[in-house]
Amino acid sequence: MRILLTGGCGFIGSAVIRHALRATDHTIITIDKMTYAASEDALEAGRTSPRHTLIRADICDPAALRAAFATHQPDAVMHLAAESHVDRSIDGPGAFIQTNIVGTYTLLDAAREYWSALPADRKAAFRFHHISTDEVFGALHANDPPFTETTAYDPRSPYSASKAASDHLVRAWHHTYGLPTLVSNTVNNYGPWQFPEKLIPLVILNALEGKPLPVYGDGSNMRDWLFVDDHAEALLKIVEHGAIGATYAIGARQPRTNLHVVHAICAALDTRLPDPAGPRSRLITFVTDRPGHDFRYEIDPSNAEQALAWTAPNDFETGLGKTIDWYLGNRPWWEPIRAARYAGQRLGTPGNTSAQRKQRDA
Ligand SMILES: NC(=O)c1ccc[n+]([C@@H]2O[C@H](COP(=O)([O-])OP(=O)(O)OC[C@H]3O[C@@H](n4cnc5c(N)ncnc54)[C@H](O)[C@@H]3O)[C@@H](O)[C@H]2O)c1
Repeated sequence: MRILLTGGCGFIGSAVIRHALRATDHTIITIDKMTYAASEDALEAGRTSPRHTLIRADICDPAALRAAFATHQPDAVMHLAAESHVDRSIDGPGAFIQTNIVGTYTLLDAAREYWSALPADRKAAFRFHHISTDEVFGALHANDPPFTETTAYDPRSPYSASKAASDHLVRAWHHTYGLPTLVSNTVNNYGPWQFPEKLIPLVILNALEGKPLPVYGDGSNMRDWLFVDDHAEALLKIVEHGAIGATYAIGARQPRTNLHVVHAICAALDTRLPDPAGPRSRLITFVTDRPGHDFRYEIDPSNAEQALAWTAPNDFETGLGKTIDWYLGNRPWWEPIRAARYAGQRLGTPGNTSAQRKQRDA
């Protein structure tokens, strides 16, 4: 299969490419704007593989998309390009509206134009897989049942609202134009190559450097955690075998509170690399909660597990161990990123108000 994949130099897109090159015979054509979140190194074997091509382009550019479809004649699209960090969406929602909504519309229209002109057999086999988040469903209370494919949308941050809009556009292009689409909504991912502004890599690196470990509010917010390589495996199953028009709610059945996650990271690091100053949990610092912070997300993945004959292979502790070992072994990637700008400042350091962040970033 020739797959045109957007956002392939990001965290999840690069995991999909690594998995596809390792475990399938698919050819991948990546379109990536190379924002701050992109890393060409994350492609690993994809940097030199004849089965992978990187096109540096914006999904909001219709001419670039048209050229990519015409030149590479894909059998499927996997759409992962997005602005993805909730804190950034609160500080500056414009980029989220542009890429996640306008970009998805532009990609859908280019895909529709290309697909409409395909010969009948290739047209019937074509798939457009849109990758989305469980955050579109809103927030759960402690005892609510987890989200499923049929949960009503209730997005509550600029990020989740922009992703919800993109999900609606994809379904509209299926119902209105017949474009053969698939949507998957997934829980929090973690693993190698995640940009160190997200909770797990941020806490690993702050803990290694003896910096405060920021925990929003009282740390009781709960997320289900999916190891990124497991997600990549599920996504490829969806694009290969998914039913046209279907939605797949992908989860790991590994819900943990943020505080539990931070303690688990401290304990795992203390075992691997004891800190002479004492257990790293001493660095935990509770910070002012994010505005509108959703309390809990969790997915009941039963339908997807059955339809795809897939369950997440890694439990949280196993995936976390692999993730920590990867960060310990890949300092040359993350040290310059930390040194350049972020240094743990963006997510939840004490006094992490929007105004203070702007002042620091100025
Ligand atoms: N990370 C998670 O926990 C998670 C969970 C559920 C769903 N998702 C979804 O999965 C997808 C991938 O997430 P991620 O964590 O890998 O994101 P990421 O931020 O790590 O990577 C996004 C990639 O998209 C590229 N990109 C951004 N704007 C672009 C544009 N206009 N044109 C072309 N490329 C552009 C970036 O350069 C980057 O390589 C997103 O759609 C996200 O909403 C992520």
